[in-house]
Amino acid sequence: MAETVGLLGGGVIGGGWAARFLLGGWDARLYDPSPDAERVAGEMLANARRALRRLTLAPLPEEGALSVVRTPEEAADGAAFVQESAPEREGVKRDLLAAASRAADASVVFASSTSGLLPTRLAADMEHPERLTVGHPFNPVYLLPLVELCGGERTAPETLERAAAVYRGLGMRPLVVRREVDAFVADRLLEALWREALWLVADDVATVEEVDDAIRFGAGLRWASMGPFLTYRIAGGEAGMRHFMEQFGPALQLPWTKLTDVPELTGALLDTLAAQSDAQAAGRGVRELERLRDDCLVSVIQGLRAHDFGAGAVLAEHERALFAAAPAAGPGGDEAPLRLHSAVVAPEWIDYNGHAHESRFLQVFGDTTDALLRFIGLDLGAGGSYFTVETHMSHLGQARAEERLNTTTQLLGHDEKRLHVFHSLYRTGDGALLATAEQMLLHVDTQAERAAPAAPELLARIERIAAAHAELPRPDRAGRAISIPA
Ligand SMILES: NC(=O)c1ccc[n+]([C@@H]2O[C@H](COP(=O)([O-])OP(=O)(O)OC[C@H]3O[C@@H](n4cnc5c(N)ncnc54)[C@H](O)[C@@H]3O)[C@@H](O)[C@H]2O)c1
Repeated sequence: MAETVGLLGGGVIGGGWAARFLLGGWDARLYDPSPDAERVAGEMLANARRALRRLTLAPLPEEGALSVVRTPEEAADGAAFVQESAPEREGVKRDLLAAASRAADASVVFASSTSGLLPTRLAADMEHPERLTVGHPFNPVYLLPLVELCGGERTAPETLERAAAVYRGLGMRPLVVRREVDAFVADRLLEALWREALWLVADDVATVEEVDDAIRFGAGLRWASMGPFLTYRIAGGEAGMRHFMEQFGPALQLPWTKLTDVPELTGALLDTLAAQSDAQAAGRGVRELERLRDDCLVSVIQGLRAHDFGAGAVLAEHERALFAAAPAAGPGGDEAPLRLHSAVVAPEWIDYNGHAHESRFLQVFGDTTDALLRFIGLDLGAGGSYFTVETHMSHLGQARAEERLNTTTQLLGHDEKRLHVFHSLYRTGDGALLATAEQMLLHVDTQAERAAPAAPELLARIERIAAAHAELPRPDRAGRAISIPA
């Protein structure tokens, strides 16, 4: 049964948490006094679904159900975890956490999304304050993996461990702050940059767009993979960090930055910021800008996944967990043919003809083969794998954006090293056959890099599938070769 999260506050961050939890398979009960809360959460969820479909082909858990409730007590009652994302005012958060804590079981962990308030003070009026931690996320919560955890004076160590486990289960990267400090780690860094950005505009050194360009064409590209320390180690050349510090250390004394000095937010400065920001947005609304941001983030995270690095490594690990948790087969188990994979045609699969590019069919068949290998119990860590050595595809129909697809797999033959399979790809809506792929897979000893017999457990599983498929008629297209009859 799905677990339930209690959400207190459903604005930019609370709506993002709703999406992260719901798409992670949790039910959510949301309390927010605003009459717009349900609409905002619904719009964020739609954007989040779209982003996640582009981000990963891994089998996501069944989406949870969102209910909007009328009191903080109702949100917390029966919840397994509570996430507070009310406005950044200590009094509001303190009252809210105190009320909700009285309705929740004593074992339920509470996390506050606060950007910098101290957890000791936020927990002051709670029942069982030892179960409060800061769980500070980053916008958009449903895509960015970082969440900072910070305990207060009374926070129990297991509160941090349990919160971290919940966040990891949602594909996030918890970072535990070592001491209770204002603004934690990330916002101290961001605040310093933001102050300088405001000074640069206030002093008429740069426009808002020029400040953004100074980041996004340079350091911002690096920051997606490496923070300042690893970056500057590389900048130090072969001698590394020590050399870098010797060379640039003296420059730290120069009066380049204004540190904690803050520009006065005069009406004139606010007018300048608003006018330049409007010009920069060029008429694009917030949801449109969010989608642009999400698409770019998806591309960056996918790029990083190819290097198993940074946020890409977090995604890869989460995908492995999702694949491991997915049912090994469709509802019918050892059915004939097997039904192991389904997919939705993502908008970026569409080519200039208005339907899915042919390479995407091979991708779906490749994912079907991966599902088959998981189904027969292949353990990639065990030193053996099946490699596809030959594919013959037939393209029979077109697939358009957002259409659901599903595949079937028939085992045509096997021996101790080879699997001969036949996949068919259907449009789920009308059952139309869109493509077929016949493949030969060869079992390889991945250390020796040569063909080798599969392990006996795998062969036993394959034998069972072969027996179940023995009576299936051979598909018409099996064994076809391309030719133009004379
Ligand atoms: N916006 C960000 O980038 C960001 C990032 C990380 C953390 N945070 C933190 O997340 C929290 C929420 O920020 P936000 O940006 O989502 O603000 P927001 O203004 O978008 O949302 C706040 C929501 O809280 C609701 N609310 C008001 N009073 C409430 C109450 N008593 N109980 C429950 N809900 C109440 C409001 O109706 C609103 O929907 C803040 O603590 C903020 O510091 C914000």
